[in-house]
Amino acid sequence: MHSLIIFASGTGTNAAAIIAFFKANGKARVSLIVCNKPGAGVLGIAEREGIPTLLIDKHSIKEAALVQQLQAHDPSLIILAGFMWKVPETLTNAFPDKIINIHPALLPKYGGKGMYGHHVHEAVIAAGEKESGITIHYVNEAYDEGAIILQAHCPVMPADTPDTLAQRVHKLEHFYYPKAVEYLLANS
Ligand code: GRF
Repeated sequence: MHSLIIFASGTGTNAAAIIAFFKANGKARVSLIVCNKPGAGVLGIAEREGIPTLLIDKHSIKEAALVQQLQAHDPSLIILAGFMWKVPETLTNAFPDKIINIHPALLPKYGGKGMYGHHVHEAVIAAGEKESGITIHYVNEAYDEGAIILQAHCPVMPADTPDTLAQRVHKLEHFYYPKAVEYLLANS
């Protein structure tokens, strides 16, 4: 069975969607959740699911010891799901083509430093875009610039606020992220 590692530091709804999907189909299991934020919602999800967690900080994320701790789980993929820090080269070098991320907009627009959470949806609405969506992509050493794996679109409605747009985008994320992971596992 494939082993998956999730990096997350937020509420963890994408992590929960991925855990539930693979619990149901049995093709993979989430063997570790890595988090940089004590008290983050995703840690409660990990506890309920009996998944080990690893808290990291600005120093330990760059250390060789982390690479070894991750390698011990022999991950088929490392999945970023609401992980806000830049992934250091120690990790992108150790796990080439194995780290993926989800971004709540249609890259290459509305990506890069500072483009996260509500900032993304505010920018999309302010620009008068008629559609937004999600981008699932490989992670390299530059923010939001790795090769695109999948994009899915949704409309931006005239009455949308950043919150209502975020909700629509989140639904796309929960539907497509587990399926993209399943596709990559089957084709790796
Ligand atoms: C998602 O919108 C994702 O696109 C972004 O961070 C958010 C995480 O949300 N990278 P959640 O913690 O999975 O609910």
